[in-house]
Amino acid sequence: MTTDDNKSIDEVLLQEELQEQMAFMQKIKKENLAYTEETGKHRYFYNLAMGCQMNAHDSEKLEGMLTEMGYLKTTNETDADFIIYNTCCIRENAEQKVYGKLGWLKHYKKSNPDAIVALCGCMMQQDTVLNTIKSKYKHVDIIFGTFNLYKLPELIATRKETGEMTIDIWEENRLIVENVPTIPSFSYKGAVNIMYGCDNFCAYCIVPYVRGRERSRNPEDILAEIRGLVSQGMKEILLLGQNVNSYGKKLDSPITFAELLRQVNEVEGLERIRFMTSHPKDLSDDLIAAMRDCDKVCHYLHLPVQSGSTNVLRRMNRKYTKESYLELVRKVKSAIPDIAISTDIIVGFPGETEEDFQDTLDVIREVRYSTAFTFLYSKRTGTPAATMEDQVPEDVMKDRFDRLLKVLNPLIHEENHKQIGTTQMVLVEEVSKQKDTILTGRTDNNTLVHFEGSKELIGSIVPVKIVDNKTFYLIGERI
Ligand code: 5AD
Ligand code: SF4
Repeated sequence: MTTDDNKSIDEVLLQEELQEQMAFMQKIKKENLAYTEETGKHRYFYNLAMGCQMNAHDSEKLEGMLTEMGYLKTTNETDADFIIYNTCCIRENAEQKVYGKLGWLKHYKKSNPDAIVALCGCMMQQDTVLNTIKSKYKHVDIIFGTFNLYKLPELIATRKETGEMTIDIWEENRLIVENVPTIPSFSYKGAVNIMYGCDNFCAYCIVPYVRGRERSRNPEDILAEIRGLVSQGMKEILLLGQNVNSYGKKLDSPITFAELLRQVNEVEGLERIRFMTSHPKDLSDDLIAAMRDCDKVCHYLHLPVQSGSTNVLRRMNRKYTKESYLELVRKVKSAIPDIAISTDIIVGFPGETEEDFQDTLDVIREVRYSTAFTFLYSKRTGTPAATMEDQVPEDVMKDRFDRLLKVLNPLIHEENHKQIGTTQMVLVEEVSKQKDTILTGRTDNNTLVHFEGSKELIGSIVPVKIVDNKTFYLIGERI
């Protein structure tokens, strides 16, 4: 159904929703201004994103809204009047970190009783977590989840009015709220959501339960956002989704991810395009062709393998085999010979045998990744793997993990070594934390490079000759 000006009813409702939030933002801003007038002090927010790039990007939206509400940013938690943690639950240690911080916050609130503490993100979407917080961490003021981030202003207003713990967790939201105020973390590179949620249900993974079903944004909205960012000076855009290769399939006018890449490649002024994450089961020949043909698409592919064993992959519900993954890598490498491939690997999935583990080592040796993110399997309540038999004992898991790194790291070193003597275009990102005459940046294929230079270069793309290899980063000289 559409309205007179050809907008869908959903779109109109969403616009109204956002208007409502804008009104709450104004109300809180007035109050914050009055506080400043009265006391001569400002109200500060501390905004911590945990977990993946998706959360980091969501936190840019939280920051946009908090700034609209008149809060100033602080990176010092002990100066904050409003503290917000955007939580992750992908592995148990991510959750432990939040509980640890909540313990600290209890003391903080004793000496700062007016401070507001808000929790949001993936971890909050789980009932068990919510119940624990309600019963044990009563000093938390606001809790919301992944589906209603844009409601933050209203939730702050409610908390202030009622003085009570304000909880708003949704089970699902099939609509996408556009135009939430956002403050990008960097001036030269930005992330843009192309889709939300995940339909894959890998047996170990909590994401489909906490981020809902796949929904894609309209290409026009994505392109408009990218043009806006580029007009502010952004050089590099990261297209974000849990599984970008299934982008656009369910839109009213379906479009493939390959086609979206081609359209983004046309954006004038944009220099680099990255994307993540690609599921190997959906990586089409057309996408490989688009990556090869689009000059702005970086020669870098993050292609999580998770395990090299066909048996384990079947029980993980990954829908590819060791052979089909390796075949895909061969295809990508033959189309784009200088591509760098990185991956995610889980060690110790239930039932993993020594032979299965050896298959993972085989894959590592054959693919020769440029980097890999390696994880010990972590049991997530509610996922199919949590109740599988043959959970791998911790000592076996840790021993495999150590052996994995012993094979992986020398290969990463060898891969990086190939770049010595070459000249790479580097997007300069920041001054090194160790030494202020050293800059760090990334090559097109995503390798970190350190080189001497002055901070005026931050945000530009400069040629750098690679002279040394430190395994996880390269040393370069500006030419
Ligand atoms: N245990 C360990 N690692 C996990 N990942 C996802 N779920 C788990 C889990 N239960 C890893 C996968 C994924 C990455 C983001 O996190 O490798 O690709
Ligand atoms: Fe990201 Fe998954 Fe962690 Fe959520 S649970 S923050 S989607 S890694």
